[in-house]
Amino acid sequence: MPDTLTIIDNRTGERYEVPISYGTYPEYGASIRTSDLRQIKTSPEDFGLLGYDPAFMNTASCRSAITHIDGERGILRYRGYAIDELAERSNFLEVAYLVLYGELPDEDQLTAWVREITFHTYVHESIKKFTEGFHYDAHPMGMLVSTVAALSTFYPEARDIATPEVRQKQIVRLIAKMPTVAAFAYRHSKGLPYVYPDNELSYTGNFLSMMFRMAEPKYTPHPVLEKALDVLFILHADHEQNCSANAMRSVGSSHTDPYVSVAAAAAALYGPLHGGANEQVLRMLREIGTKERIPEFVKRAKAGEFRLMGFGHRVYKNYDPRARILKRMADDVLEVTGKSPLLELAMELERIALEDDYFVSRKLYPNVDFYSGIIYQAMGFPVDLFPVLFAIPRTAGWLAQWREMLLDPEQKIARPRQIYIGDGRRGYVPIDQRGVSD
Ligand code: CMC
Repeated sequence: MPDTLTIIDNRTGERYEVPISYGTYPEYGASIRTSDLRQIKTSPEDFGLLGYDPAFMNTASCRSAITHIDGERGILRYRGYAIDELAERSNFLEVAYLVLYGELPDEDQLTAWVREITFHTYVHESIKKFTEGFHYDAHPMGMLVSTVAALSTFYPEARDIATPEVRQKQIVRLIAKMPTVAAFAYRHSKGLPYVYPDNELSYTGNFLSMMFRMAEPKYTPHPVLEKALDVLFILHADHEQNCSANAMRSVGSSHTDPYVSVAAAAAALYGPLHGGANEQVLRMLREIGTKERIPEFVKRAKAGEFRLMGFGHRVYKNYDPRARILKRMADDVLEVTGKSPLLELAMELERIALEDDYFVSRKLYPNVDFYSGIIYQAMGFPVDLFPVLFAIPRTAGWLAQWREMLLDPEQKIARPRQIYIGDGRRGYVPIDQRGVSD
């Protein structure tokens, strides 16, 4: 059986044969190159056939070896490793290394990697002044996006994206400094003094210290919460070609430095349909308030008044495997922090929605954001910090996507085509003749 597709253009009767290529899983990733359609013309002047695919519903923008998602079967793997196994046995910095470089680090590599990240957590003192410029109630995601973009001005050498050592330095800096920038934004919004990084703590332990340390000389993170945050970070490390990864690749493809590219990716993440959804889930649960109000709320969502936040996914048409892990983990966290009425409400909402034909027929299941917000809230993070907590670990994924894009000889500056549907050539109309129809 030849791996080709035969196309007959009924406009001309011409027949074309285009090759079909495959990814790792032949049943998931058979594709044709849409540029092969360009030969399909009605005349030599014809530009050739384009693929039209708003929102990339069926278009692969790259070949990638980082993350595999099988949305029908609810599978998520980084570099071939199942997400549940990584969540159980690995830790965030090891996973970040895996996502970035393709292999789990050996002992020496891991020690060097952790050391490097740990020693780049400090930010330039001027960043504090920068943060202070924001209004006390500025959204932390707005602060994060602007501050990460501003980091670009501190490291002008980062523009040299072609030199591997320079690239590597910025990768380390970005992964190391994101928690510091995020914690500074939080402390500023609370009017609290900034807490400097503590190099003796783990990546997540240090972040908790920068967030919550008060007068104690040394902050000791609760091991269950430190581990829970680490698992949350693992689950958020990458998610292949989502809106923000696509922004990272697209902006990075014009060869901007990685700081402004990460800022663009974080901006894409900020939206309520993407990483802003975890914040909206909490607001939604608070609005529902009691179990008795759930059926009425679901009815309104079905009527199209609003969407059930934390439900549905472009790729997962089955239970999001990350949500499954978080649902289990919520119990461990709440055992430490105390019961959350919101978790009970969420579980009841999930039960009612998954018994409803509207959600079942559309394959709308809880996604990662449905349970993450409840855990974050129980741990003491304010609701508007939730997208920031998504952006910190996703920085590893964005950088992996960026690095892969730069090293891929097939990639060029991202520049989609369009199908023009506006007016044809028109003569200029003098102002006194406009709006006059005969
Ligand atoms: N509540 C109610 N109806 C929904 C929902 C929802 N959450 N999501 C989709 N639908 C309906 C939608 O109205 C449409 O119905 P119909 O066919 O009758 O018009 C159908 O399901 C298909 O929806 P769609 O908008 O074509 O699906 P999409 O793939 O474009 O959207 C989504 C995916 C995640 C944007 C969407 O499901 C959504 O808005 N969910 C709520 C926001 C959310 O939780 N986002 C977090 C995504 S996971 C974390 C991340 O990766 O960022």
